[in-house]
Amino acid sequence: MFIHKSWAPAAVVLACVANGCSDPGPGLESASETADASTGTTESGTAGTDAPTTTDAPETEPVTWHQNIAPIVVAKCSGCHHDAGIAPFSLESYETAKPFAAAALDAALRGTMPPFLADETADCQPRHGWQDDPRLGDDELDLLRAWVDQGAPEGDPATAAPLPEPPELELTDADVRVQIPTPVSIDGDKDLFLCFSVDPGFEDDTWIDAVQISAGNPQVVHHVLAYVDESGASADKVNEDGYYPCFGGPGINSANLIAAWAPGMTPFRTPPNVASRIAAGSRIVMQVHYHPTGKPELDSETSLDLRIHDTIPEYVGMLALIGNSEGPQLLPSEHDDNGYPEFRIPAGVENHVEQMLFKLNDVPPLRVFAVGTHMHYVGTDMLIGLQRPSPADGEPAEECLLQTPGWDFNWQRTYSYDAPLDAVPKFDAGDQLYLRCTYNNSMSNPFVVQALAEQGLDAPKDVHLGEETLDEMCLAVVGIAIALKDAI
Ligand code: HEC
Repeated sequence: MFIHKSWAPAAVVLACVANGCSDPGPGLESASETADASTGTTESGTAGTDAPTTTDAPETEPVTWHQNIAPIVVAKCSGCHHDAGIAPFSLESYETAKPFAAAALDAALRGTMPPFLADETADCQPRHGWQDDPRLGDDELDLLRAWVDQGAPEGDPATAAPLPEPPELELTDADVRVQIPTPVSIDGDKDLFLCFSVDPGFEDDTWIDAVQISAGNPQVVHHVLAYVDESGASADKVNEDGYYPCFGGPGINSANLIAAWAPGMTPFRTPPNVASRIAAGSRIVMQVHYHPTGKPELDSETSLDLRIHDTIPEYVGMLALIGNSEGPQLLPSEHDDNGYPEFRIPAGVENHVEQMLFKLNDVPPLRVFAVGTHMHYVGTDMLIGLQRPSPADGEPAEECLLQTPGWDFNWQRTYSYDAPLDAVPKFDAGDQLYLRCTYNNSMSNPFVVQALAEQGLDAPKDVHLGEETLDEMCLAVVGIAIALKDAI
C-alpha cells in the first residue's frame, strides 16, 4: 500500500486492549496500601508524610479532594474512570478515588495516564500543541503530588471548588447514526477483530464535518476504525450475522479510513470550511476490536455518528495513509543482509529501525491538520517528519510532525493540531514525508510476549510487513485539507 485517499474527516484512534483493561495490575495494590495507610485530614500540615516535596505549596497549603483534586479528575480522568466505564475503577467520588491516590500520581508522573502517546522529544518538537490534549500540566501534577503527600484528604464538601464541564464525549448535533447490524457475544480469552458492513443510506454524495464512535458495551469494545467502502465489496464478505473477521484493516481493497476511536475520545471535527466526502451508495465498514472480560458479554449498539456539512466546503478533508513500503521508499537498515533494503525485523533484536521517505510530486498544495502513527505489537516508537527540498513561504526545510515514543497499540489515535488551518504545516509538490519506525522483536517487549502467547508460540520469529497480528506496519495517518478547486 502506498497512499490511500480518504474523503473523510481525519479522526482519532485509540484503544485499550488486551492485557490490563479489566485488571488494575499489581501496582495498584501497593499504591492503595500507601494511600490507605496515610490519614486524610483537611488541616494543613497534620497529615503529611515526612518525605520532602518538590514544591512549597504542600507544606503551607492544604490540598484536598473537594478544593483541588476533583476538578482535575473530572476534566482529565473520570470520562473513562467511572462506574461501567472502560477503566477498571472509578475515580468519580472521594470514596472511590482515595484508594487509588498514590497509583494515580504514579501513573500521571510516568505519563501513562491519561493515555496520550504524542510527546515532545529531542528529535521531535511539533510546531503546535494538540487539540484536547489531556495531559496534566506541571501545576496539576504538583497539586496531585501534594495531595498524596498530605494523605489524600477529603476537604469540606460545603466549600467544594466548582467542577469543570467534563469532556464532551457525544456528538450532540449528529445527523446520521450507523450501528452494528446484529448483537455479538464476546466470550473466550482472545481479542477479536470483527468488521461490520453497514449501508448508511446515502443516495447522494454527502459532506461530513464531524464524527464520533460510541461503544455499545464499553467493557469489551476497545478500539473502532470506520472505513468508507465505495465499491460495496464488504457486503459480499459478511456472514449471516453481518460481519467478518479482520485484523490489520477492513479486509477489502480501496476502503478509506473515516474515523478511528478509542475510549475517552472527544468527537472529531474537521477545521472550519473543511469537510470530507462520502460518495453516494457507499457502505461503511466498522472494524471493532473486542477484548473479552472473562465472562460472556454482549455488544449490540456500537455505532458511528456523522454530522453532515450542509454547504459545499472550501476545502476537502481526507485521511491519507502513507507508509508500509517495501519499494524504493524503504531506506537501508542495519539488519539488511541481502544487499538491498528489506522490511524485516529480525527475531530477538531489541532495537530495529526501519525508515521510509515518500517524495510526493503529484500533489496539489496541502495543509496537514492532523497526524497519527500506526504500528502493531512489535513497534515501540514512531516519528513522522516533513522535508522540503525547496521550502517556500517561510516554511522550514525540515520539521517533525509527530512522535509517539512510548508506542502502545492499545492507545493509538490521530492528533489534531491546535491551530487554524493557515498556520498548520504546508505540504507542496516535491516535499517528502519521512517515517521512522522502531521495533523490539524480543521477549523484553511485553506486547510481543502476549501476541506470541495468543498464537501459541514462545519465541519471536522474523517479522515482515503485513496485516496479521504478528506482522508489522509503519504507517502514517495524515489528515490533509486541499482547496476544493485543486481537489477536483
Ligand atoms: C481514555 C480513557 C482514560 C482516561 C482519560 C484515564 N484513564 Fe486511567 N485507565 C484507563 C484504562 C482503560 C485503564 C486500564 C488499562 C491500562 O492500564 O491501560 C486505566 C488504568 C489506570 C491506572 C492503573 C494502571 C496504571 O497505569 O497505573 C491508574 C492509576 C489510572 N488509570 C489513573 C488515571 C488518572 C489519574 C487519570 C487522569 C489524570 C486517568 N487514569 C485517565 C483509561 C483512562
